[in-house]
Amino acid sequence: MENPFYITTPIYYVNASPHIGHAYTTIVADVMARYHRLRGVPTFFTTGTDEHGDKIAEAARENGVTPKEYADTISAQFSSLWPKMDITNDCFIRTTDKNHVETVQKILQKVYDAGDIYFGAYEGLYCVGCERFYRETELVNGKCPDHQTTPEVRKESNYFFRMSRYQQWLISHIETHPDFIRPERYRNEALAFLREPLEDLCISRPKSRLSWGITLPFDENYVTYVWYDALINYITSLGYPDQEKFRQFWPAAQHLIAKDILKPHGIYWSTMLKAAGIEPYKHLNVHGYWNIDSGKMSKSLGNVVKPLDLKDKYGLDQFRYFLLRDMVFGLDSNFSEEALVGRINADLANDLGNLVSRTMAMAVKYTNAEAPACPAENPEDAHLRETAARTVEGLDALFSELGFHKALIAIWEFISVANKYIVEQEPWVMAKDPAKKGRLDSIIYNLLESLRIVAVLITPFMPGSALRIMEQLGIADPAGQNFETIQRWGGLEAGSRLKPGGALFPRVEVKVEETKQEAAPEKVGIETAPIKPEISYEEFEKIDLRTARVLKAEAVPKSNKLIRLIVEIDGERQIVAGMGKDYKPEELVGKTLVVVANLKPAKLMGVESHGMLLATDAVDGGLTLLGFDKPPATGVKIR
Ligand code: MSP
Repeated sequence: MENPFYITTPIYYVNASPHIGHAYTTIVADVMARYHRLRGVPTFFTTGTDEHGDKIAEAARENGVTPKEYADTISAQFSSLWPKMDITNDCFIRTTDKNHVETVQKILQKVYDAGDIYFGAYEGLYCVGCERFYRETELVNGKCPDHQTTPEVRKESNYFFRMSRYQQWLISHIETHPDFIRPERYRNEALAFLREPLEDLCISRPKSRLSWGITLPFDENYVTYVWYDALINYITSLGYPDQEKFRQFWPAAQHLIAKDILKPHGIYWSTMLKAAGIEPYKHLNVHGYWNIDSGKMSKSLGNVVKPLDLKDKYGLDQFRYFLLRDMVFGLDSNFSEEALVGRINADLANDLGNLVSRTMAMAVKYTNAEAPACPAENPEDAHLRETAARTVEGLDALFSELGFHKALIAIWEFISVANKYIVEQEPWVMAKDPAKKGRLDSIIYNLLESLRIVAVLITPFMPGSALRIMEQLGIADPAGQNFETIQRWGGLEAGSRLKPGGALFPRVEVKVEETKQEAAPEKVGIETAPIKPEISYEEFEKIDLRTARVLKAEAVPKSNKLIRLIVEIDGERQIVAGMGKDYKPEELVGKTLVVVANLKPAKLMGVESHGMLLATDAVDGGLTLLGFDKPPATGVKIR
């Protein structure tokens, strides 16, 4: 039996409704949980809501309700959202739950008895938004870096956790466990923070000022500081200290958070665990931020993106795919509907959707909607089968390094090889010759089997679509399909009754405001340049012309005609093209164009271009891009 897997999300504050940032973290956790379950690994996945503290008390006051009433309403928004996002959490914890209150008090008493909590006076700069005191060196121009507000001076007698005692231990733990905090940039950030002397942590609030919290077990005039309370949720969820779940899953604990809460998790929580005599968690996985128009998403700016709106408009799996595909784990990413539509049209409608619909249509036509028998190995199929095996085998390493976007790229490479297999094998030609029926059946089987493997591979990311593919393949027990079943070629049963369905991912039509003029029949004012002197074929060969599929396109800021494109040739690359007067960026996404792939990189308005799009004069005097009359493969040479 493999090692168990325990994954947590932050427990979200109940002072605001769920947005795309919360959805991202929770969907990533879900993808990881589903992936491990598919591998047969015992898995536990928890999320929940963080309900105590100043912020919540203040939000409740503003809304004229009690903190508990307020928390109930918003917590229900989170707990009812997750099933709609196909999230498969095993536990939803609220910090107001009785068992959590008891666990927090148990830990506090234990640490107090061990002498690591003491009573003292403190005066400092306090940010209400962050609910914590700041050191002057941490402020930016005297203001809280997160809230841009000036902290107030506060003096209070309070209880302190002797965090300083564990500074050296934590430094050496991070140094000896290089992937304790990952990716590396966040490990370095934590170590940089630990270069300064670590101060003790104020872990109480007098009830005279704030009563909305967990009462300290050793002084009923105080409640627990919200972070000290909230972090403990990760062990409450497992039934600390005596439930079997705790013994089984805690040694495998992995936390998933964004960079905003690195310090409480990296520093406070690690030292809290040490002081309570609990072994450290295994990994702290830190991701970047989703920004909107390259800036922060916030209620005050009115640019908060709601996950359900996107699900309703574009479909759940489309949204899940986009979030995982367009963020490199650890780095920030920019959210735009344009980019989402680009992904849907290019990767989903075009690549995967077409593979499914073409395969099913041919299977219906050539094999009477019944899966043929698995053929013996044949050199012509070797590339397809090897790519499948390589993709299945390589996925674990990509998941271990949190390379979710790389995992999707790898799966899509397999999809692209399967699409090419159709073009190369030309089943429609075989269908004309009865002597080739055997080979035709083999090709159809291989394509159906490829779909089965793709369906299992995408299950963690797009569970609904995976299920629909399996249904089309006539698989009787989709839940029985897991990583074990795709280790070998041939898992799809001969005779399986195929049930072709509608388009899996309908194309999203982009509204182009101006309707284009019908092309005039004659040329208007276009000069024809004289033909250049002759060159040899070898000279022509030096120019590497390639097909390139546009994955993303956006206007270059401050330019009225430059468009920045991300195209797929030999991987992804950036090209800047002066097409802005003739094309809107969204019109280009999903198109396959012709590119000079070996042109020296150049900078256009400060943006690097690694190649050049080919275009020519249109009859209306504008520019028109070189295209094709049959869909070409991506990244191939123009001959
Ligand atoms: N309640 C604390 C966490 C306590 S955990 C013991 C909290 N809550 S929060 O509601 O503010 O959620 C913060 C988390 O939400 C981030 O760490 C991240 O997981 C997610 N995100 C919120 N905004 C985000 C983005 N714009 N982009 C990506 N994730 C973001 O902090």
